[in-house]
Amino acid sequence: MDEKIIIFDTTLRDGEQSPGASLTPQGKLEIAHQLASLGVDVIEAGFPISSPGDFESVKAVAKNVKGPIICGLARCMKKDIEAAGNSLKPAKRGRIHVFLATSKIHMQYKLKKPEDEIVQLAIEGVKYASRFTDDIEFSPEDASRSEREFLYRVIEEVIKAGATTINVPDTVGYAIPDEYGDLIKCIRNNVPNMNKAVISVHCHNDLGLAVANSIAAIQNGAGQVECTINGIGERAGNAALEEIVMAISVRRDLLNFQTGIKTKEIYKTSRLVSTLTGVPVQPNKAIVGHNAFAHESGIHQDGVLKKSLTYEIMAPQDVGFSGTKLVMGKHSGRHAFSERLKALGYTLKDEELNKAFEEFKVLADKKKEVFDEDLATIVEHEVGTGTVPEVYRLKSFHISSGSDEKPTANIGLSKKGKVLAAGSSGDGPVDACYKAVDKITGLKGKLSDYAIRSVTSGKDALGEVSIRVVIKDREISARGASTDIIEASIKAYLNAINKIIGKTEKAKGTKVEL
Ligand code: KIV
Ligand code: ZN
Repeated sequence: MDEKIIIFDTTLRDGEQSPGASLTPQGKLEIAHQLASLGVDVIEAGFPISSPGDFESVKAVAKNVKGPIICGLARCMKKDIEAAGNSLKPAKRGRIHVFLATSKIHMQYKLKKPEDEIVQLAIEGVKYASRFTDDIEFSPEDASRSEREFLYRVIEEVIKAGATTINVPDTVGYAIPDEYGDLIKCIRNNVPNMNKAVISVHCHNDLGLAVANSIAAIQNGAGQVECTINGIGERAGNAALEEIVMAISVRRDLLNFQTGIKTKEIYKTSRLVSTLTGVPVQPNKAIVGHNAFAHESGIHQDGVLKKSLTYEIMAPQDVGFSGTKLVMGKHSGRHAFSERLKALGYTLKDEELNKAFEEFKVLADKKKEVFDEDLATIVEHEVGTGTVPEVYRLKSFHISSGSDEKPTANIGLSKKGKVLAAGSSGDGPVDACYKAVDKITGLKGKLSDYAIRSVTSGKDALGEVSIRVVIKDREISARGASTDIIEASIKAYLNAINKIIGKTEKAKGTKVEL
């Protein structure tokens, strides 16, 4: 029987630390429900002490999401542990994850504490957490750069104090697979009470080795892998859940492990996370990228048509790609629309369905053929914007641009039922629109990234615009979709503005950064 690997998802905690990523509490809950449908074993829902908003989000996930263990992060400090413990109270099964750095560089420069004090603080942190739950995870932060003998000592002590999972973070993505596998093996062999706790791994992707290191770790005795959807996370991100799970599934011949992940839910989860965080998935991303199953070369296409195994090591359907099937047109009714969405795995509330159907009708008028991918984009944008309070909504726009004239834009937005209008010129039509929007909102956004992709093929394809914009000193990722790329650009910008307004209103209190 293959050994079961515990999948610990940290999309909502480490993933949300991705530059530009931002999630509303409602968005977090939406993702947590989807992670439960995906079959993850543990959801790290946030860092409750970091802000009142994060505390409430973890609490809402703990209260509403059934199935997985719900986990909250805490430093080895009483106030952090109390916040985590309190936010997890509604959970059927709650875990507190305490962490403290153990590498010389972190202890000396960041914490400014000697080894003995670190050991003491770690013991006290775990003991304090045990007042709230008996499911306690301890992370010696920067473990892969810690002195091994000291690491063994800390781990032995925290297990004595009650830790049931020991996570070994490669915090800065420095490790190489053989070295990291050896570290896990040595921890197993040198910590006398290691059999009393599960070894977990948490790898960052600074050298592009997060997944390889995680696989090396399970081959050497780790029983839990920490990962995120689409590999999002601090700096270069974390190990991607979908890559680890599919490596285990596809290479069953070498990797005698199993996970509880329902792989057909992977693609949908990936899209949801990308839509709600605003962080796009690179086209060539393994498993979930737009090109992951696209064959460009004629030889490859010929081979795949003859026998898919020639160039496909897994079927796109295994991870939930439906393929771009022609499904609907402007004569399709609400019932057929909702049935098709169900077949694609989306169950919407009545109000969401109505809005999505309206969008579909508008799209079907502009576009002869509506594909599954178009439907998914409509729904995700509907759900995505639905989790952000829609303070400003686009009512109308008009642009004028040409090779011999300065681009100008006139924009109409609605706010609380009132229509507000402004016009502006700009360096290009998008710039003119954004300046007109700024005049209406009184906010000033600075665009740091702008990308556009077509959702399906054809001149009438839906265009999806992804942007990163700095507003009020905060960088926010956002998206918008339309068959008109100017409209998609304005929608993306409004999505960013609505997110920042939502965040500002929620952020009462000081934010604690990791
Ligand atoms: O990367 C890291 O070390 C972390 C810890 C908090 C586990 O995210
Ligand atoms: Zn991390």
